[in-house]
Amino acid sequence: MQIEKDYARVLSGVRHGHTLGSPIGMYIENKDWANWQEQMSITPIEGEVKRVTRLRPGHADLPGVMKYGQQDVRNVLERASARETTARVAAGAVCQRLLEEFGIAFRSHVISLGKIKATPREPIDWDRVEESPVRCADPAVEKEMMALIDAAREAGDTVGGVFEVIAYGVPVGLGSHVHWDTKLDALIAQAFMSINAVKGVEIGPAFGNTELPGSQVHDIIERASEGPVPFRHVTNRAGGIVGGMSNGEPIVVHVAVKPISTLGRPLPSVDLDTGERVQAHYERSDVCQVPPACVIGEAMLALVLADAFMEKFGGDHLVETRRNYVGYVKGLRERFGPGRGAAGADERPPDDT
Ligand SMILES: Cc1cc2nc3c(=O)[nH]c(=O)nc-3n(C[C@H](O)[C@H](O)[C@H](O)COP(=O)(O)O)c2cc1C
Repeated sequence: MQIEKDYARVLSGVRHGHTLGSPIGMYIENKDWANWQEQMSITPIEGEVKRVTRLRPGHADLPGVMKYGQQDVRNVLERASARETTARVAAGAVCQRLLEEFGIAFRSHVISLGKIKATPREPIDWDRVEESPVRCADPAVEKEMMALIDAAREAGDTVGGVFEVIAYGVPVGLGSHVHWDTKLDALIAQAFMSINAVKGVEIGPAFGNTELPGSQVHDIIERASEGPVPFRHVTNRAGGIVGGMSNGEPIVVHVAVKPISTLGRPLPSVDLDTGERVQAHYERSDVCQVPPACVIGEAMLALVLADAFMEKFGGDHLVETRRNYVGYVKGLRERFGPGRGAAGADERPPDDT
C-alpha cells in the first residue's frame, strides 16, 4: 500500500559505520499510527472502545480470542498482522550485510500468482525483478498477474501464489546431519512457515522430484577446478541442501502463500457476543501479499544462514570470522582440491585423530 514506505533509522549499536556488539536498535515508523492513537492507547481511554467481535475466517481471530481469554478481536489481530515482519526484515538486512562479506547474496521473485506461472529466462535479470510491480522475472506474464490482482480487487477477493528465494555463495557444510534440531533444511522450513500466510515450503523442486525416478533427481557430483568448494553438482535439484547441510550449491526455497484472508466482500462468519451469523469484520487490507512476502523470505533465510554461518565459523570480529572461513575453505582445497587425487582425500589434517 502507498502508505507503507518503511525506512529504518539506526538508533544504537553502531559507531562510525561499525557494529559494536551492543544491540542494534532500529526505529521504523508506522505511518498509520496517527489514526489509532485512541483505540490503541496504552492507558485506558475516556471514550468508547470500538470492539471487534465479528470473527474473520482465515485469521488468528478465533483461536487467539479463545486461547488468550479475550473479548475483543483487536487484541489478537494487531499482533497477528504481518506488520510484525517489518522488524524481521530490518534484522535480516543486518544479517545480509554480514554474509555479503563472505560473498553470500540473496534474491527473490514471484513464480506464480493464482494459476499464472512465470517461466523466467535464465540467468534471471534481477534488476528487472526489483522494478517489476509484482516482483516477477517473466515479462510475458507480468501484466496478466497485475490484471488478476485488479480483477480480484474488483470482485472483493484476494490472490495467493508461490515465491522463490535463493541464497548464492553459501559454503558447503552449514547446518548439521548430527542432530534433528541443527538440520539446515528444518531450520529454514520453520523460519519460512513463521511468515504470516505461508502454508508450504519446499527446498528445491521437492514436490516435482517425487514424480521422477531417483536417477533423474539426485545431483551428479563432479570435481570443480575453481571456486571455494573442490566439488560441484551438475544440477541443483536438492536445492542446495543434503543431509541437513549446505552442499555448496545455491540454496533454493519455494514458498506457498495463501490468498489474504480479509476479503473486500467478507465471508459469512459468527459474532463473538451474539453467536449470530454475520459478515466477517473488514480491516484495511491488501489484495495480494506475495510480492512483499518475497522480501520477508529473503530476511528469514538471511537470519537462519547468519546463525548457521556464525555457528560454523564463530569469531568475535570480522577479521577473526574471515580467518576461520578462509582457513576452512583452504583446508578443503588442500585435502580434496585438484592435483590431490584420491590420496589427498585420505590425508588427514595433523590435528585430526
Ligand atoms: C506481507 C504480508 C501482508 C499481509 N497483509 C494482509 C492484509 O492486508 N490483510 C490480511 O487479512 N492478511 C494479510 N496478511 C496475512 C495475515 O497476516 C495472516 O494470514 C494471518 O496473520 C493469519 O495467519 P496465517 O495465515 O499464517 O495462519 C499478510 C501477510 C503478509 C506476509
